[in-house]
Amino acid sequence: MEALGALGALGAGAALLLGLYALLYYNFVAATRCRNAVSLRGKTVLITGGNAGIGKATAVDLARRGARVVLACRDKARGESAMYDIRRESGNSEVILMILDLGSLNSVRAFAQSFLESEPRLDILINNAGVLKDGQTSDGFDQAFQVNHLAHFLLTHLLLDRLKRCAPSRIVILSSNAHMYGKINFRTIHKPVEGMWEALRSYGSSKLANMLHARELANQLEGTNVTCYAVHPGAVKTEINRSFPWWIFSSLWFMRLFVRDCDAGAQTSIYCATEEGIERLSGRYFVDCRPKVPWPQARDDQLAKKLWEFSERLLGLTA
Ligand SMILES: NC(=O)c1ccc[n+]([C@@H]2O[C@H](COP(=O)([O-])OP(=O)(O)OC[C@H]3O[C@@H](n4cnc5c(N)ncnc54)[C@H](OP(=O)(O)O)[C@@H]3O)[C@@H](O)[C@H]2O)c1
Ligand SMILES: *[C@@H]1O[C@H](CO)[C@@H](O)[C@H](O)[C@H]1NC(C)=O
Ligand SMILES: *[C@@H]1O[C@H](CO)[C@@H](O)[C@H](O)[C@H]1NC(C)=O
Repeated sequence: MEALGALGALGAGAALLLGLYALLYYNFVAATRCRNAVSLRGKTVLITGGNAGIGKATAVDLARRGARVVLACRDKARGESAMYDIRRESGNSEVILMILDLGSLNSVRAFAQSFLESEPRLDILINNAGVLKDGQTSDGFDQAFQVNHLAHFLLTHLLLDRLKRCAPSRIVILSSNAHMYGKINFRTIHKPVEGMWEALRSYGSSKLANMLHARELANQLEGTNVTCYAVHPGAVKTEINRSFPWWIFSSLWFMRLFVRDCDAGAQTSIYCATEEGIERLSGRYFVDCRPKVPWPQARDDQLAKKLWEFSERLLGLTA
Protein backbone atom coordinates (compact mmCIF):
# COMPACT_ATOMS: atom_id res chain seq x y z
CA MET A 1 0.00 0.00 0.00
CA GLU A 2 2.77 2.35 1.04
CA ALA A 3 4.83 1.42 -2.02
CA LEU A 4 1.83 2.16 -4.19
CA GLY A 5 1.41 5.53 -2.53
CA ALA A 6 5.06 6.37 -3.09
CA LEU A 7 4.72 5.29 -6.70
CA GLY A 8 1.69 7.50 -7.11
CA ALA A 9 3.53 10.47 -5.61
CA LEU A 10 6.45 9.78 -7.91
CA GLY A 11 4.10 9.64 -10.89
CA ALA A 12 2.41 12.86 -9.87
CA GLY A 13 5.81 14.50 -9.38
CA ALA A 14 6.99 13.36 -12.79
CA ALA A 15 3.77 14.57 -14.43
CA LEU A 16 4.18 17.94 -12.71
CA LEU A 17 7.79 18.27 -13.93
CA LEU A 18 6.77 17.28 -17.43
CA GLY A 19 3.96 19.81 -17.37
CA LEU A 20 6.29 22.50 -16.10
CA TYR A 21 8.81 21.72 -18.82
CA ALA A 22 6.07 21.78 -21.47
CA LEU A 23 5.00 25.18 -20.18
CA LEU A 24 8.55 26.55 -20.22
CA TYR A 25 9.19 24.94 -23.58
CA TYR A 26 6.22 26.48 -25.32
CA ASN A 27 6.82 29.86 -23.74
CA PHE A 28 10.57 30.18 -24.08
CA VAL A 29 12.09 27.55 -26.35
CA ALA A 30 9.69 26.85 -29.19
CA ALA A 31 10.06 29.87 -31.42
CA THR A 32 7.23 31.77 -33.03
CA ARG A 33 7.65 31.19 -36.74
CA CYS A 34 7.67 33.91 -39.35
CA ARG A 35 4.57 32.97 -41.34
CA ASN A 36 4.56 35.37 -44.27
CA ALA A 37 5.32 34.18 -47.79
CA VAL A 38 6.84 37.45 -48.99
CA SER A 39 8.91 36.95 -52.13
CA LEU A 40 12.34 38.59 -52.41
CA ARG A 41 12.77 38.07 -56.13
CA GLY A 42 14.88 40.88 -57.60
CA LYS A 43 16.17 41.95 -54.16
CA THR A 44 19.68 41.72 -52.77
CA VAL A 45 20.39 40.71 -49.19
CA LEU A 46 23.74 41.16 -47.48
CA ILE A 47 24.33 39.13 -44.34
CA THR A 48 27.45 39.26 -42.17
CA GLY A 49 28.59 35.97 -40.67
CA GLY A 50 26.30 34.03 -43.00
CA ASN A 51 28.46 30.91 -42.81
CA ALA A 52 27.33 29.57 -39.43
CA GLY A 53 24.63 29.52 -36.80
CA ILE A 54 21.69 31.91 -37.03
CA GLY A 55 23.16 33.74 -40.05
CA LYS A 56 23.35 30.61 -42.17
CA ALA A 57 19.78 29.58 -41.31
CA THR A 58 18.59 33.12 -42.14
CA ALA A 59 20.43 33.02 -45.47
CA VAL A 60 18.77 29.72 -46.45
CA ASP A 61 15.29 31.14 -45.85
CA LEU A 62 15.92 34.42 -47.69
CA ALA A 63 17.49 32.56 -50.63
CA ARG A 64 14.39 30.33 -50.79
CA ARG A 65 12.35 33.50 -51.19
CA GLY A 66 14.33 34.26 -54.35
CA ALA A 67 16.74 36.92 -53.06
CA ARG A 68 20.27 37.33 -54.31
CA VAL A 69 22.19 36.62 -51.10
CA VAL A 70 25.69 37.93 -50.42
CA LEU A 71 27.43 36.19 -47.53
CA ALA A 72 30.05 38.42 -45.91
CA CYS A 73 32.44 36.06 -44.10
CA ARG A 74 35.99 36.26 -42.83
CA ASP A 75 37.11 32.75 -43.71
CA LYS A 76 37.17 31.72 -47.38
CA ALA A 77 36.98 27.96 -46.81
CA ARG A 78 34.15 28.12 -44.23
CA GLY A 79 32.38 30.70 -46.35
CA GLU A 80 32.55 28.65 -49.54
CA SER A 81 31.38 25.48 -47.90
CA ALA A 82 28.38 27.38 -46.43
CA MET A 83 27.68 28.99 -49.80
CA TYR A 84 27.35 25.57 -51.43
CA ASP A 85 25.18 24.28 -48.56
CA ILE A 86 22.87 27.30 -48.84
CA ARG A 87 22.61 27.00 -52.65
CA ARG A 88 21.71 23.33 -52.32
CA GLU A 89 19.23 23.76 -49.45
CA SER A 90 17.47 26.73 -51.03
CA GLY A 91 17.66 25.69 -54.66
CA ASN A 92 18.87 29.23 -55.43
CA SER A 93 22.23 29.55 -57.19
CA GLU A 94 22.44 33.32 -56.61
CA VAL A 95 24.18 32.95 -53.27
CA ILE A 96 27.68 34.40 -53.35
CA LEU A 97 30.58 34.89 -50.96
CA MET A 98 32.56 38.04 -50.30
CA ILE A 99 35.34 38.30 -47.72
CA LEU A 100 34.80 40.58 -44.73
CA ASP A 101 36.71 40.49 -41.45
CA LEU A 102 34.98 42.73 -38.93
CA GLY A 103 38.06 42.50 -36.73
CA SER A 104 39.80 44.82 -39.21
CA LEU A 105 38.36 48.21 -40.10
CA ASN A 106 40.47 48.21 -43.27
CA SER A 107 38.75 45.01 -44.29
CA VAL A 108 35.35 46.66 -43.70
CA ARG A 109 36.32 49.60 -45.95
CA ALA A 110 37.73 47.34 -48.67
CA PHE A 111 34.65 45.13 -48.50
CA ALA A 112 32.23 48.06 -48.79
CA GLN A 113 34.12 49.41 -51.78
CA SER A 114 34.09 46.15 -53.70
CA PHE A 115 30.46 45.47 -52.74
CA LEU A 116 29.38 48.87 -54.05
CA GLU A 117 31.35 48.34 -57.23
CA SER A 118 30.04 44.87 -57.98
CA GLU A 119 26.47 44.91 -56.63
CA PRO A 120 23.96 47.37 -58.04
CA ARG A 121 21.38 46.81 -55.29
CA LEU A 122 21.13 46.49 -51.53
CA ASP A 123 17.63 45.92 -50.16
CA ILE A 124 18.24 44.17 -46.86
CA LEU A 125 21.36 44.46 -44.69
CA ILE A 126 21.59 41.98 -41.83
CA ASN A 127 24.24 42.82 -39.23
CA ASN A 128 24.41 39.30 -37.85
CA ALA A 129 28.03 38.32 -37.16
CA GLY A 130 29.04 38.32 -33.52
CA VAL A 131 31.64 37.06 -31.10
CA LEU A 132 31.74 36.26 -27.41
CA LYS A 133 35.47 36.44 -26.94
CA ASP A 134 38.14 38.42 -25.11
CA GLY A 135 41.29 39.99 -26.58
CA GLN A 136 41.89 42.74 -29.09
CA THR A 137 41.29 43.30 -32.81
CA SER A 138 43.95 44.37 -35.31
CA ASP A 139 42.77 47.95 -34.70
CA GLY A 140 43.47 47.60 -30.98
CA PHE A 141 39.83 47.67 -29.85
CA ASP A 142 37.98 45.12 -27.75
CA GLN A 143 36.89 42.09 -29.84
CA ALA A 144 33.21 42.14 -28.91
CA PHE A 145 32.96 45.93 -29.08
CA GLN A 146 34.49 46.10 -32.57
CA VAL A 147 33.12 42.95 -34.22
CA ASN A 148 29.62 43.23 -32.76
CA HIS A 149 29.18 47.00 -32.82
CA LEU A 150 31.86 49.32 -34.23
CA ALA A 151 32.66 47.48 -37.48
CA HIS A 152 28.93 47.02 -38.19
CA PHE A 153 28.41 50.72 -37.46
CA LEU A 154 31.05 51.53 -40.12
CA LEU A 155 29.65 49.00 -42.59
CA THR A 156 26.14 50.44 -42.21
CA HIS A 157 27.49 53.96 -42.69
CA LEU A 158 29.34 53.00 -45.88
CA LEU A 159 26.33 51.21 -47.40
CA LEU A 160 23.61 53.64 -46.34
CA ASP A 161 23.37 55.59 -49.60
CA ARG A 162 22.86 52.38 -51.55
CA LEU A 163 20.11 51.31 -49.12
CA LYS A 164 18.45 54.70 -49.51
CA ARG A 165 18.57 54.43 -53.27
CA CYS A 166 16.89 51.01 -53.12
CA ALA A 167 14.21 52.12 -50.60
CA PRO A 168 12.00 50.77 -49.23
CA SER A 169 14.86 48.86 -47.66
CA ARG A 170 15.78 47.47 -44.25
CA ILE A 171 18.56 46.98 -41.74
CA VAL A 172 18.30 44.15 -39.21
CA ILE A 173 20.69 44.29 -36.26
CA LEU A 174 21.26 41.15 -34.19
CA SER A 175 21.32 42.20 -30.56
CA SER A 176 20.52 40.00 -27.56
CA ASN A 177 18.63 39.91 -24.31
CA ALA A 178 22.17 40.07 -22.87
CA HIS A 179 21.89 43.85 -23.33
CA MET A 180 20.19 43.52 -19.92
CA TYR A 181 23.56 43.57 -18.15
CA GLY A 182 25.29 45.86 -20.64
CA LYS A 183 26.80 49.21 -19.64
CA ILE A 184 28.15 52.00 -21.80
CA ASN A 185 31.17 53.50 -20.13
CA PHE A 186 32.87 55.74 -22.69
CA ARG A 187 36.22 55.50 -20.93
CA THR A 188 36.44 51.71 -21.12
CA ILE A 189 33.94 50.26 -23.62
CA HIS A 190 36.39 50.16 -26.53
CA LYS A 191 39.33 48.83 -24.52
CA PRO A 192 40.28 45.14 -24.84
CA VAL A 193 39.40 42.85 -21.93
CA GLU A 194 40.90 39.57 -20.82
CA GLY A 195 39.31 36.44 -19.43
CA MET A 196 35.95 34.76 -19.72
CA TRP A 197 33.99 36.83 -17.23
CA GLU A 198 35.23 40.09 -18.63
CA ALA A 199 34.39 38.80 -22.12
CA LEU A 200 30.83 38.09 -20.98
CA ARG A 201 30.48 41.61 -19.60
CA SER A 202 31.92 43.10 -22.73
CA TYR A 203 29.52 41.03 -24.84
CA GLY A 204 26.54 42.40 -22.90
CA SER A 205 27.77 45.94 -23.46
CA SER A 206 28.31 45.35 -27.18
CA LYS A 207 24.74 44.03 -27.45
CA LEU A 208 23.48 47.15 -25.64
CA ALA A 209 25.46 49.17 -28.21
CA ASN A 210 23.60 47.25 -30.95
CA MET A 211 20.26 48.27 -29.39
CA LEU A 212 21.28 51.93 -29.15
CA HIS A 213 22.64 51.88 -32.71
CA ALA A 214 19.25 50.70 -34.03
CA ARG A 215 17.47 53.33 -31.96
CA GLU A 216 19.49 56.32 -33.17
CA LEU A 217 19.67 54.95 -36.71
CA ALA A 218 15.87 54.86 -36.87
CA ASN A 219 15.76 58.52 -35.80
CA GLN A 220 18.21 59.54 -38.49
CA LEU A 221 16.45 57.49 -41.15
CA GLU A 222 13.03 59.02 -40.61
CA GLY A 223 11.44 59.93 -43.92
CA THR A 224 13.88 57.88 -46.04
CA ASN A 225 11.85 54.65 -46.26
CA VAL A 226 14.86 52.81 -44.88
CA THR A 227 13.86 51.16 -41.59
CA CYS A 228 15.81 49.22 -38.99
CA TYR A 229 15.09 46.66 -36.30
CA ALA A 230 17.01 45.15 -33.35
CA VAL A 231 16.53 41.43 -32.75
CA HIS A 232 16.96 38.94 -29.93
CA PRO A 233 16.95 35.47 -31.54
CA GLY A 234 16.35 33.54 -28.30
CA ALA A 235 18.86 31.12 -26.75
CA VAL A 236 20.12 29.29 -29.81
CA LYS A 237 22.37 26.26 -30.25
CA THR A 238 25.17 27.77 -32.38
CA GLU A 239 28.95 28.07 -32.31
CA ILE A 240 28.87 31.32 -30.31
CA ASN A 241 30.25 29.35 -27.33
CA ARG A 242 33.33 28.20 -29.26
CA SER A 243 35.90 30.23 -27.33
CA PHE A 244 34.52 29.01 -24.00
CA PRO A 245 35.86 25.96 -22.19
CA TRP A 246 33.59 23.04 -23.25
CA TRP A 247 32.60 22.17 -19.68
CA ILE A 248 30.84 25.49 -19.10
CA PHE A 249 27.96 24.61 -21.35
CA SER A 250 28.26 20.82 -21.44
CA SER A 251 28.32 20.37 -17.67
CA LEU A 252 25.02 22.19 -17.43
CA TRP A 253 23.37 19.39 -19.42
CA PHE A 254 19.89 20.63 -18.56
CA MET A 255 20.62 23.84 -20.47
CA ARG A 256 20.25 21.78 -23.63
CA LEU A 257 16.55 21.52 -22.85
CA PHE A 258 16.26 25.27 -23.15
CA VAL A 259 18.01 26.12 -26.41
CA ARG A 260 16.39 26.27 -29.82
CA ASP A 261 17.93 25.16 -33.11
CA CYS A 262 19.28 27.62 -35.70
CA ASP A 263 16.22 27.45 -37.92
CA ALA A 264 14.03 28.49 -34.98
CA GLY A 265 16.63 31.07 -33.93
CA ALA A 266 16.51 32.70 -37.37
CA GLN A 267 12.75 33.36 -37.38
CA THR A 268 12.78 36.85 -35.88
CA SER A 269 15.59 38.00 -38.21
CA ILE A 270 13.57 36.68 -41.16
CA TYR A 271 10.42 38.37 -39.85
CA CYS A 272 12.11 41.77 -39.48
CA ALA A 273 13.65 41.41 -42.94
CA THR A 274 10.40 40.54 -44.72
CA GLU A 275 7.17 41.24 -42.81
CA GLU A 276 5.05 43.89 -44.49
CA GLY A 277 3.56 46.69 -42.40
CA ILE A 278 6.13 46.82 -39.58
CA GLU A 279 7.82 49.95 -40.97
CA ARG A 280 6.22 52.18 -38.35
CA LEU A 281 8.04 50.11 -35.72
CA SER A 282 11.47 51.17 -37.04
CA GLY A 283 14.08 51.28 -34.29
CA ARG A 284 12.18 48.88 -32.06
CA TYR A 285 13.36 45.62 -30.46
CA PHE A 286 11.86 42.32 -31.65
CA VAL A 287 11.73 38.98 -29.82
CA ASP A 288 9.78 35.98 -31.13
CA CYS A 289 8.44 37.97 -34.10
CA ARG A 290 6.92 40.62 -31.82
CA PRO A 291 8.04 44.04 -30.66
CA LYS A 292 9.16 44.00 -27.03
CA VAL A 293 10.06 46.74 -24.58
CA PRO A 294 13.82 46.52 -23.95
CA TRP A 295 15.65 47.10 -20.66
CA PRO A 296 15.76 50.76 -19.55
CA GLN A 297 19.37 51.48 -20.60
CA ALA A 298 18.39 50.55 -24.17
CA ARG A 299 15.61 53.17 -24.19
CA ASP A 300 17.91 56.10 -23.44
CA ASP A 301 17.83 58.37 -26.52
CA GLN A 302 20.55 60.64 -25.19
CA LEU A 303 22.87 57.70 -24.56
CA ALA A 304 22.09 56.44 -28.09
CA LYS A 305 23.10 59.79 -29.55
CA LYS A 306 26.27 59.94 -27.45
CA LEU A 307 27.28 56.43 -28.51
CA TRP A 308 26.66 57.41 -32.13
CA GLU A 309 29.01 60.39 -31.85
CA PHE A 310 31.57 58.35 -29.89
CA SER A 311 31.58 55.66 -32.62
CA GLU A 312 31.98 58.30 -35.32
CA ARG A 313 34.95 59.77 -33.48
CA LEU A 314 36.65 56.38 -33.07
CA LEU A 315 36.20 55.78 -36.80
CA GLY A 316 37.33 59.25 -37.83
CA LEU A 317 34.01 59.91 -39.56
CA THR A 318 33.56 63.38 -38.14
CA ALA A 319 34.82 66.36 -40.09
N1 LIG B 1 23.30 31.91 -30.03
C1 LIG B 1 22.58 32.61 -29.19
O1 LIG B 1 22.00 32.07 -28.25
C2 LIG B 1 22.42 34.10 -29.38
C3 LIG B 1 21.63 34.80 -28.46
C4 LIG B 1 21.45 36.18 -28.61
C5 LIG B 1 22.07 36.82 -29.67
N2 LIG B 1 22.86 36.14 -30.56
C6 LIG B 1 23.49 36.89 -31.65
O2 LIG B 1 23.26 36.25 -32.89
C7 LIG B 1 24.31 36.59 -33.80
C8 LIG B 1 24.77 35.33 -34.52
O3 LIG B 1 25.45 34.48 -33.59
P1 LIG B 1 25.40 32.90 -33.60
O4 LIG B 1 24.83 32.48 -32.30
O5 LIG B 1 24.81 32.40 -34.86
O6 LIG B 1 26.98 32.60 -33.51
P2 LIG B 1 27.97 31.72 -34.41
O7 LIG B 1 27.39 30.40 -34.75
O8 LIG B 1 29.27 31.76 -33.67
O9 LIG B 1 28.09 32.58 -35.74
C9 LIG B 1 28.72 33.82 -35.72
C10 LIG B 1 29.08 34.25 -37.11
O10 LIG B 1 29.79 35.49 -37.03
C11 LIG B 1 30.99 35.36 -37.77
N3 LIG B 1 32.08 36.19 -37.29
C12 LIG B 1 32.68 36.18 -36.09
N4 LIG B 1 33.70 37.05 -36.06
C13 LIG B 1 33.75 37.64 -37.27
C14 LIG B 1 34.60 38.61 -37.87
N5 LIG B 1 35.63 39.15 -37.21
N6 LIG B 1 34.36 38.98 -39.15
C15 LIG B 1 33.35 38.42 -39.83
N7 LIG B 1 32.53 37.49 -39.33
C16 LIG B 1 32.73 37.10 -38.06
C17 LIG B 1 31.36 33.90 -37.64
O11 LIG B 1 32.30 33.55 -38.65
P3 LIG B 1 33.39 32.37 -38.41
O12 LIG B 1 32.67 31.09 -38.66
O13 LIG B 1 34.45 32.66 -39.41
O14 LIG B 1 33.87 32.51 -37.00
C18 LIG B 1 30.00 33.26 -37.82
O15 LIG B 1 29.65 33.20 -39.18
C19 LIG B 1 25.38 37.28 -32.98
O16 LIG B 1 25.32 38.67 -33.21
C20 LIG B 1 25.00 36.96 -31.55
O17 LIG B 1 25.42 37.97 -30.66
C21 LIG B 1 23.04 34.79 -30.42
C1 LIG C 1 8.56 56.70 -49.27
O1 LIG C 1 7.53 55.83 -49.69
C2 LIG C 1 6.30 56.49 -49.93
C3 LIG C 1 5.24 55.43 -50.21
O2 LIG C 1 5.67 54.54 -51.19
C4 LIG C 1 6.49 57.49 -51.07
O3 LIG C 1 5.29 58.17 -51.30
C5 LIG C 1 7.58 58.48 -50.68
O4 LIG C 1 7.85 59.34 -51.76
C6 LIG C 1 8.87 57.75 -50.32
N1 LIG C 1 9.84 58.69 -49.79
C7 LIG C 1 11.14 58.66 -50.12
C8 LIG C 1 12.02 59.70 -49.50
O5 LIG C 1 11.60 57.82 -50.89
C1 LIG D 1 28.70 24.63 -27.71
O1 LIG D 1 27.34 24.27 -27.64
C2 LIG D 1 27.01 23.12 -28.40
C3 LIG D 1 25.51 22.94 -28.37
O2 LIG D 1 24.84 23.58 -27.35
C4 LIG D 1 27.75 21.90 -27.84
O3 LIG D 1 27.42 20.75 -28.61
C5 LIG D 1 29.24 22.18 -27.93
O4 LIG D 1 29.95 21.11 -27.35
C6 LIG D 1 29.57 23.48 -27.22
N1 LIG D 1 30.98 23.79 -27.45
C7 LIG D 1 31.77 24.28 -26.51
C8 LIG D 1 33.17 24.56 -26.91
O5 LIG D 1 31.36 24.49 -25.37
